[in-house]
Amino acid sequence: MKKTLAILLAAILMLGCMSFASAEAKTYKVGVSIYQFDDNFMTLYRNEILDYFKTLETDEVKYDVTLVDGKNDMAEQTNQVNNFITQKMDVIILNLVQTSSADAVIDNIVAAGIPLVLINREPLAYDENNNAIDEGYEGILNNPQVCYVGADARQSGTYQGEMVAELENHGDINGDGVISYIMIEGDPENPDAQYRTQFSVKALTDAGYKVECLDDQVGNWAQAKGQELVANALSKFDRKIEVVFCNNDAMALGASAAITAAGRKVGEDIYLLGVDALEQAVQMVKDGEMTGTVLNDHIGQSHTAVDVAVKLLNGEEIQNYYWVNYVKVNKAYVDAQ
Ligand code: GAL
Repeated sequence: MKKTLAILLAAILMLGCMSFASAEAKTYKVGVSIYQFDDNFMTLYRNEILDYFKTLETDEVKYDVTLVDGKNDMAEQTNQVNNFITQKMDVIILNLVQTSSADAVIDNIVAAGIPLVLINREPLAYDENNNAIDEGYEGILNNPQVCYVGADARQSGTYQGEMVAELENHGDINGDGVISYIMIEGDPENPDAQYRTQFSVKALTDAGYKVECLDDQVGNWAQAKGQELVANALSKFDRKIEVVFCNNDAMALGASAAITAAGRKVGEDIYLLGVDALEQAVQMVKDGEMTGTVLNDHIGQSHTAVDVAVKLLNGEEIQNYYWVNYVKVNKAYVDAQ
């Protein structure tokens, strides 16, 4: 009797262990490197990556996400990628510090057999005149397990220019027939900065308006730098400046402080444009303190990046490019929300 009981108990224990083992979740290791944590927009983006991965977890599947700060230093990010490879990550999501290093990084990750999702900073090839070649990047197109998720920066630049063209005076406050502007650029190595700089102005010239660039400076996406540059430009060019184009909202927030300090008033004697639609910027558009911004959809982009990473983990086929639309955010748009 005792023996039967012991066998029975052992069987129950074994069964218990087996069912426990089969219920154990599969944990995927995900490596994420962001070009720089100290960036307003990429902070929203990276937090959403973490939050969204959490929402996709089930009893069967878990995501162990390692998120690291590239500190705007390509050497640092290369080390991080090498660590991801040593740690045998199942998938890598990468916001490159330098898009010019894309080939080396992609090769390294592909050679290790790890799928890769590039985000936010699109690697581009250039022709001999330094014009971007738009047919897609070979390093991405040639690799079925590599893709880029982003928004087409040309669209955001075009929207900025259109928002000026749509104003009653088309940005020509002094009525001399020329829109006189200053441009505050993000990191010039970054296609978002290149395209926004180019296409904001192109939208105006394509619509038949004359433009004059009074000043073009690099603010590296940063608020404090934006403020300093716009303060300098205002003291140099004063009332000549009719439009301030900033490649992103962080710099536009800085520009706004400089504009106020110079006793100027957005919507009356100057116009101010940004990109990203940070909460504070949208509020300023609503209050008439900014002429317009462009929604850089960090939710759409982060969710797409994570969804495609999950597809890669499941061995599903993916596209090489995924695009998320920008949205024009001017007063009319904000008021209609
Ligand atoms: C842009 C964004 C900027 C900055 C940059 C970093 O898309 O508008 O604010 O975050 O990405 O690459």
